[in-house]
Amino acid sequence: MKEQLLELEERALKEIAAVDDPAELENFRIKYLGKKGQLTSIMKNVGGLPPDERPKIGKFANLVKTNLSKRFGEAKDSLLSGKVSRDGFIDVTLPGKEPIIGHLHPITSVIKEVCQIFSRMGFRVVKGPNVELDYYNFEALNIPKDHPARDMQDTFYISDNVVLRTHTSPIQVRVMETRQPPVSVIAPGKVYRRDSDVSHTPMFHQVEGLLVDKNVSFGDLKGTLTSFVHQMFGSDTELRFRPSFFPFTEPSAEVDILCVLCGGKGCRTCSQTGWLEILGSGMVDPEVYRFVDYDADVYSGFAFGMGIERIAMLKYGIDDIQLFFKNDMRFLRQF
Ligand code: PHE
Repeated sequence: MKEQLLELEERALKEIAAVDDPAELENFRIKYLGKKGQLTSIMKNVGGLPPDERPKIGKFANLVKTNLSKRFGEAKDSLLSGKVSRDGFIDVTLPGKEPIIGHLHPITSVIKEVCQIFSRMGFRVVKGPNVELDYYNFEALNIPKDHPARDMQDTFYISDNVVLRTHTSPIQVRVMETRQPPVSVIAPGKVYRRDSDVSHTPMFHQVEGLLVDKNVSFGDLKGTLTSFVHQMFGSDTELRFRPSFFPFTEPSAEVDILCVLCGGKGCRTCSQTGWLEILGSGMVDPEVYRFVDYDADVYSGFAFGMGIERIAMLKYGIDDIQLFFKNDMRFLRQF
């Protein structure tokens, strides 16, 4: 019987060394160590041996069993931690699932970047209310009731005297009302207009700027905004100041940059003009100073306002403004 056991052990060890998948391993267990397995059947015969042989053979059979069980355990461990992935085993050599790490929304990071550029130039960041009085949104900005200039912006009215602000310019008035010159502020925030298509959403973001002091000239406005454009879009970006009109600035100018897509040749994005409008600006109209009790003979200043979505679209080459608000992870993850 000892020879039988030795032969079985040798055969089993050889077999288990070649096992490389969990199903084979289980077959091995059934074949040798199972209730009806070969080792078990040999061991059942121990009881029929002459009494003087029984303990020796019994001990030997147990040794073989321990040895095979141990080898079986080792083989199972190495298969579990190894490369086999069939039948639900884990393949630890595969790359793991990467957790999605959150980051700022592209609009938030563009707002941050704009504010940082102006902060470095000495502007202070301030905020104002989204639900605004008609007085600050229009009246004090030299846009009287029934004035045709109100048609420039489709307004959401809360009541006759309360609106969702249509621009961040009311913050100019709130700042001047509470502070004496010199003031230099930058004011980011949400604004609301009744408008929705590929280039308009009912809510979007603006950043307002205001600087008032003695002897502020149009040259200061040009210098400040040129420096901004160069920091935001690159120092070789061409820009131009184009005469325009706003009721609260005089003179007024819009700033265009050379089309980032066609380099000025003319394309769909720039409506074949070669230029892209990025902000409105001008010297604060003396009419506005009357509302905040600033002496227009002593002080002068400039203001500007820009749409953040537009800046982000130009900076990243995005052609649909709605993408910013759909929260599609495939879009957002690219930033
Ligand atoms: N508020 C203007 C707009 O929304 C932009 C602007 C701001 C123009 C400040 C001049 C000065 O179109």
